[in-house]
Amino acid sequence: MSRCVPSNPSVRRPNDADDAEKRDRLRWRGGRVRVFVAGATGALGRPLVARLLEAGHEVVGTTRSEERANDLRAQGAEAAVVDALDADALAAAVRRARPEAVVQQLTALPKAGAAGEREHAATSRLRIEGTRTLLRSAPGARAVAQSVAFLTRPDGRPIHDEDAELYVDGPGSVGVNARAVRDMEADVTKAGGVSLRYGFFYGPGTWYHREGASARDIAEGRAPLVGDGQGRWPWLHVDDAVSATLPALERGEGALNICDDEPAPVAEWMPYAARLLGADPPPRMTIPEALETAGPKLVHYHTTMPGASNARAKGELGWALSWPDWRRGFEHELGDQRAASSP
Ligand SMILES: NC(=O)c1ccc[n+]([C@@H]2O[C@H](COP(=O)([O-])OP(=O)(O)OC[C@H]3O[C@@H](n4cnc5c(N)ncnc54)[C@H](OP(=O)(O)O)[C@@H]3O)[C@@H](O)[C@H]2O)c1
Repeated sequence: MSRCVPSNPSVRRPNDADDAEKRDRLRWRGGRVRVFVAGATGALGRPLVARLLEAGHEVVGTTRSEERANDLRAQGAEAAVVDALDADALAAAVRRARPEAVVQQLTALPKAGAAGEREHAATSRLRIEGTRTLLRSAPGARAVAQSVAFLTRPDGRPIHDEDAELYVDGPGSVGVNARAVRDMEADVTKAGGVSLRYGFFYGPGTWYHREGASARDIAEGRAPLVGDGQGRWPWLHVDDAVSATLPALERGEGALNICDDEPAPVAEWMPYAARLLGADPPPRMTIPEALETAGPKLVHYHTTMPGASNARAKGELGWALSWPDWRRGFEHELGDQRAASSP
């Protein structure tokens, strides 16, 4: 495992003694641990809880809803009904649970429609304050947090690793999210944990499945392709997000990119998705038109966003993807070929 000290402070390594002590603590029951999952009912939280239980872990999962708490109990997990923005309530729930590992999967992004300033601000609070409360309330626990693979500053290189600079002064929500994950990752790293920088989710429960909001926009011709479409998107099937999160309970340090092998230019993936959804090719939009109607964030996503390399995560976590190529994954999730396209 690499022990280099990269220039980006959010990926600085904790010291070896702390790290070894935390791993020993996790191994004492043969790898079975008591896990507190904050955000147990989301696109990733739900399948993650199922896999943790299957693997023999004990799970305490959070939700704000009594109904979803009952779903968690029916799955075999314990449930904590709590608003993670209420620091005292979250701290009390964590202390009651006495977890050996905490997993942060909280976001306040909408199920449909673009996230606005309010949702991004709430998501930043969940990332920064929510994570801080989790770490403070379970000081000996292994920490795993949800981060983002597509927030690095464009510098002309098509693919970035984890040492690339975060785009903290990026346009709109790019800068907001980059600053939030910078602070969150620094806290997680200091606690000896790992931040998993997931790519764009696709698959069940996400914006990109047949009925998902973004897939519907593409299917109905509402999603334009801006400029040359050379912004590269790191994609990730939710099943692969889950399969990377399990080994992260034991291994991995700093920040790791969790995405597939083929970061794809928008000019490639968007027409491919449209074809699978039975739609016409996406309408084209010039950069000035996009700046006027949607703003600089969309232009960045479509024209300058760098892709991400998953090489470090594969090495550190020993992680193998079920869906290494988004094309096959899209065929499975967006196309009409389910039976023909299992991984
Ligand atoms: N990397 C990515 O591409 C990425 C990352 C995240 C989300 N997304 C997208 O976001 C969309 C929305 O997904 P989703 O609604 O299922 O959400 P989600 O982002 O997958 O999960 C949100 C989780 O956070 C919890 N939560 C939110 N606010 C909370 C609060 N104040 N206190 C406690 N818990 C809180 C929710 O619990 P309760 O609501 O049960 O309380 C839920 O468990 C998905 O379609 C996905 O594609 C994408």
